Amino acid sequence: MQTVMNARQLMETARALVADDKGLLAMDESNATCNQRFAKLGIPQTAEMRRVWRDLIVTTPGLGDNISGAILFDETMRQQTNQGKPFAKALMDVGIVPGIKVDTGAKELALHPGEKVTEGLDGLRERLAEYSGMGARFAKWRAVITIGEGIPGMACIDANSHALARYAALCQEAALVPVVEPEVLMDGDHTLQRCAQVTELVLRAVFKQLYTQGVMLEGMLLKPAMVSPGSASAAQASVEEVADATVDCFLRAVPAAVAGVAFLSGGQSGELASARLNAMNLRLHSRLPWPLTFSFSRAIQHPALDIWHGQSSQVAHAQKALLHRAACNRAARRGQYGAAMETS
Ligand code: 13P
Repeated sequence: MQTVMNARQLMETARALVADDKGLLAMDESNATCNQRFAKLGIPQTAEMRRVWRDLIVTTPGLGDNISGAILFDETMRQQTNQGKPFAKALMDVGIVPGIKVDTGAKELALHPGEKVTEGLDGLRERLAEYSGMGARFAKWRAVITIGEGIPGMACIDANSHALARYAALCQEAALVPVVEPEVLMDGDHTLQRCAQVTELVLRAVFKQLYTQGVMLEGMLLKPAMVSPGSASAAQASVEEVADATVDCFLRAVPAAVAGVAFLSGGQSGELASARLNAMNLRLHSRLPWPLTFSFSRAIQHPALDIWHGQSSQVAHAQKALLHRAACNRAARRGQYGAAMETS
């Protein structure tokens, strides 16, 4: 295996991202995704409104007490807060490590209807150098795996795993910690067991490719979905069943050297995502070789987005809601989250 030149810096950044029971805030929605969410609430779909929303998030008082790192989208990385600071600088000033989404999106996989492959490797070395110059210390790449009739197949799993590993290697070359996100979607009516099988298959493929490409596991984070039944499944599972199935699956397929596991929320409500993360940390703590934390977008942002609704008069109220979800998730890392936190 190649020696990674930036090993010390990578390990320090990775450790900082999981330190002190904090977690990541994903605020890297592409313009199209952000616009969809705005459209549902009648918020104007403009670069300026996206900037104003991200300003609200980043300037939330106390955010850095709960959030270790925030993932930005390219547009936001190039914008400034209301105070005229680049967003990456505003994050650093409150002790939050800035990160950047670097894939260019999931596209149809040729000859494989219903399956996707994530693009963005061309020119990535140059883009990573630019983002690093703008203050980014870590990056994210999201692969999408769909469970359905006869899918996922190995063409999809191998193509995505290979791309994730190539991306991760380029990141480490540039001293950026790669957040490796193979998202097994919650969409569908599959069972908990089927999700566990697919997740294990995907994780084994991803770690095989990471090994082949020489990626240093101590200097990366894994960003997976929780193992759960499909959102349309008739057989939903308890919080404890999801926690157990997720940890059992990861213990089989995720090497202990990985610096941390930071879940995506995937469309779960904020409260459910916190409850499941809490159950994993509470029930299974002694079995975990890696910190289990969060890297949520919707499960942290959504209550606040609903409150804000594009109205400047609602900024302070929305920031309170955002801080609340961030604090609930930090408590969940300690196994100290409970329904009482939602009512107090
Ligand atoms: P959700 O938490 O909304 O699933 O988003 C996380 C993410 O970063 C998806 O790439």
